[in-house]
Amino acid sequence: VIDIRKLYADTGMFTYDPGFTSTASCESALTYIDGDEGVLLHRGYPIGQLAKESSFMEVSYLLLNGELPDRSELDHFTYTITRHTMLHEQLATFYRGFRRDAHPMAIMCGVVGALSAFYHDSADITDPHQRMVASHRLIAKMPTIAAMAYKYSIGQPFLYPKNDLSYTGNFLRMTFGVPAEEYEVNPIVEKAMDRIFILHADHEQNASTSTVRLAGSSGANPFACIAAGIACLWGPAHGGANEAALNMLREIGTVDRIPHYIDRAKDKNDPFRLMGFGHRVYKNYDPRATVMQETVREVLSALGVSDPVFDVALRLEELALNDPYFIEKKLFPNVDFYSGVILSAIGFPTTMFTALFALARTVGWVAQWNEMISDPAQKIGRPRQLYTGPVQRDYVPVDKRS
Ligand code: ACO
Repeated sequence: VIDIRKLYADTGMFTYDPGFTSTASCESALTYIDGDEGVLLHRGYPIGQLAKESSFMEVSYLLLNGELPDRSELDHFTYTITRHTMLHEQLATFYRGFRRDAHPMAIMCGVVGALSAFYHDSADITDPHQRMVASHRLIAKMPTIAAMAYKYSIGQPFLYPKNDLSYTGNFLRMTFGVPAEEYEVNPIVEKAMDRIFILHADHEQNASTSTVRLAGSSGANPFACIAAGIACLWGPAHGGANEAALNMLREIGTVDRIPHYIDRAKDKNDPFRLMGFGHRVYKNYDPRATVMQETVREVLSALGVSDPVFDVALRLEELALNDPYFIEKKLFPNVDFYSGVILSAIGFPTTMFTALFALARTVGWVAQWNEMISDPAQKIGRPRQLYTGPVQRDYVPVDKRS
């Protein structure tokens, strides 16, 4: 690792690295990835262990505070998050300004950004206590915001949070419950959803996290920074891939059509890519995809659902992993390849998939944002460029231009 800052100070030289393939933008103690070995650790703990043995509240505490909580710390943290789940009543009016067919990510960008107009105390980012309050507010309100986006799109009334439920159970009820009826949280679905949240909680300096850090580096309002992260996550090359992957699997439809799509993915004249395949850092199986594949099996069997799309996904993976193109380019399934199958079995429309990713990734974003603000080496993010435009020339009045 070369620290280029000294070279720049001494000689004015800087690096050209489009897409930041080999440039570290910060130091971070949150998440470690070994892309060649397919390892992902949060604060040192392997993702497989966290996904199977802990809860999203525990992982959230871990990411924010650096250590796993003991029982009383966990209870207190869960209580704190629960206290912040309500949205200001005026925000319901804000939703009504959107078209009914608005994508939930469009609504989430707007509503999360709008939170900055409601919590003026959170604007004081120099105060670590206020930063933590802003973080708790964001983690707590995201399920309410996402569920309301869904309810709005289907024309049903919003449900207020019910705080005797778990974080994830509460979200399921606000999404699938209706005011006139009792909603029973299915423990299998609750567990699977919680695991999906854990798998998406953080992933070091991915595009949306880097966006949050860059926006936050100017001292911007935390809610506005998270809205910027949501905007970045939406793209199909990033969080939007879960929606795109399930749409692709449905379009393929049957296993006999898979080879045609693999051929298309290899054809450099065709912009088509296998969605849910490939990763900037993983050149091995994404460890989150391993857990996700196991979870699909468990959920489908526990719910008694058989989905032909899962068979297509399994066969597609098998064929791609034995294909020289995918072997040579080290393209493996990523977290988004299987998540859509579970989310669809639970009852979410594809348009909600990326919104769920944003909900879960919020803890990673706020933890990284906090880490950045508390870092004494932190400066405003300001990439350089290689200028390729015209050299200096004189202005010509409009009537004299030929
Ligand atoms: N299908 C077919 N070919 C692919 C795929 C794919 N899914 N992914 C990469 N490739 C090929 C590229 O065409 C390129 O080939 P070339 O060397 O002949 O030009 C080579 O593999 C390297 O790909 P890049 O795009 O340069 O790799 P990069 O690291 O920039 O991109 C990315 C990573 C964006 C994830 C890419 O693999 C992709 O588009 N995958 C599909 C979308 C997806 O699943 N995104 C989710 C990522 S995980 C997440 O955000 C949670």
